[in-house]
Amino acid sequence: MYLSISSRLMYALCTVTLLAGTVSAVHAADATPSAHVTILATGGTIAGSGATSTTTVGYTAATVGVDRLIAAVPELAKVAQVKGEQVFQIASENMTNEHWLKLAKRVNALLAQPDVDGIVITHGTDTLEETAYFLDLTVKSKKPVVLVGAMRPGTALSADGPINLYNAVLLAASQEAVGKGVLVAMNDQIHAARDVTKTNTSTPDSFKTPELGMLGYIQGNKPYFYHVSNRKHTADTEFDISKLDALPQVDIVYGYANVGPVALNALVGAGAKGIIHAGVGDGSLASKVAPALTAARKQGVLIVRSARVGQGIVARNGEANDDALDFVVSDTLNPQKARILLMLALTKTSDSKEIQRMFYTY
Ligand code: SIN
Repeated sequence: MYLSISSRLMYALCTVTLLAGTVSAVHAADATPSAHVTILATGGTIAGSGATSTTTVGYTAATVGVDRLIAAVPELAKVAQVKGEQVFQIASENMTNEHWLKLAKRVNALLAQPDVDGIVITHGTDTLEETAYFLDLTVKSKKPVVLVGAMRPGTALSADGPINLYNAVLLAASQEAVGKGVLVAMNDQIHAARDVTKTNTSTPDSFKTPELGMLGYIQGNKPYFYHVSNRKHTADTEFDISKLDALPQVDIVYGYANVGPVALNALVGAGAKGIIHAGVGDGSLASKVAPALTAARKQGVLIVRSARVGQGIVARNGEANDDALDFVVSDTLNPQKARILLMLALTKTSDSKEIQRMFYTY
């Protein structure tokens, strides 16, 4: 091709301009965050919608798909390269052991891939703490896994889902979150899966770790950690769910004034392999319930004394002679989390001393 001098000059100028464009494109590409985060969507209020912008209760959970959740927060592209997968689309009161097994297997498969740096799981807040703890015990990786939900549906004024999702992705993409166990990111705060709990039916600051303390904050596009959980988790646990398609039946019996043994006996009759007794105070046993618990233990049912109080250690051999009765105590785990640990423990052993060791380890 023949080019006149002026054309050549123009071409050269254009080339320089194009090259400059390429250089700035390279800089722009360099600025693209390198962490790859997969968002696994399971439903909940974060994917919910209400009739009006002031509907903050009585809305429908689990209506919006993962692609729309991601599209609603274009800022995610500033902190990670994000992919989405719809794993379930449920309100979290319908979460089951089978959902957990499927989710944990998917998380483990994704984290084994070199091109996945972290995972965010969007989840209903009602059982979010339980799924988080289940994954804390069964994920075999140090890469970040962050659970996130919302207390208000996306249609509400001041919906908390978008900022919570942004913070969760930022956290899952961060080096600071590596090796910290499964985390919960809600309301600009970072919590450990083992200790966090939902404390309010509807306010956005519902998630708290009251006495043991949250791990840190997310502020100004950065996670700040102040504590770590001392209990073993993720890559350091002894639980392997890779070949399991069911978990042993473990149920919770609640303590209250005037309680009798009817519910306990029904659950044992229905085949429970373990019972979490959510006792009053320091896990106390009412005299109408204690004989039924003793009988259940003699039949081989594992009994864990937990407390409905929500904070504090259930003292071994305190309100009951656990050594003589061959019971286990839950340490500081709340009843719903004690249920998870007992199910996983029963996949390994039925020895109560071994199970007590696990309750002091995880
Ligand atoms: C749910 O847990 O699925 C409904 C409530 C919520 O996400 O806040």
